[in-house]
Amino acid sequence: MMAKGRWSGMVAAAVLVSGAMVPLAAQGDKAKGEKVYADLKCSMCHTLGTGKKMGPDLAKVGATRDKAWLAKYLPDPKAVNPKNKMPKAKATGADLDNLIAYLLSLK
Ligand code: HEC
Repeated sequence: MMAKGRWSGMVAAAVLVSGAMVPLAAQGDKAKGEKVYADLKCSMCHTLGTGKKMGPDLAKVGATRDKAWLAKYLPDPKAVNPKNKMPKAKATGADLDNLIAYLLSLK
């Protein structure tokens, strides 16, 4: 009983600490993700509704791709397609979650 009580206390503390930085279940914040998209200059190669540039138009990417696919693709596009010319998205942790939340909102 003692051990169980201590563990649940530690879990609660960890949730509180991480909850201040990242929403529970790593949902991602699409407003912050929009800033990540701008900071990483994704728009050099992608448009949002005005047609293909070097990469595909991402205006509807949230309707065709899901979170798991984006989480695998963005950090290493070549892992999905070795001929891919897209550079690795330089976002990790909360930035990556937020970027994914933003992309999923595009539909
Ligand atoms: C140098 C150009 C370039 C940059 C910069 C770039 N991309 Fe891409 N991206 C591409 C290309 C080219 C493809 C298509 C690859 C293919 O068809 O296999 C692509 C594909 C994608 C896809 C997959 C679309 C789909 O549904 O198939 C997503 C999502 C994406 N990029 C997001 C991003 C994000 C987010 C950023 C910024 C972090 C970014 N890209 C930066 C060139 C780029």
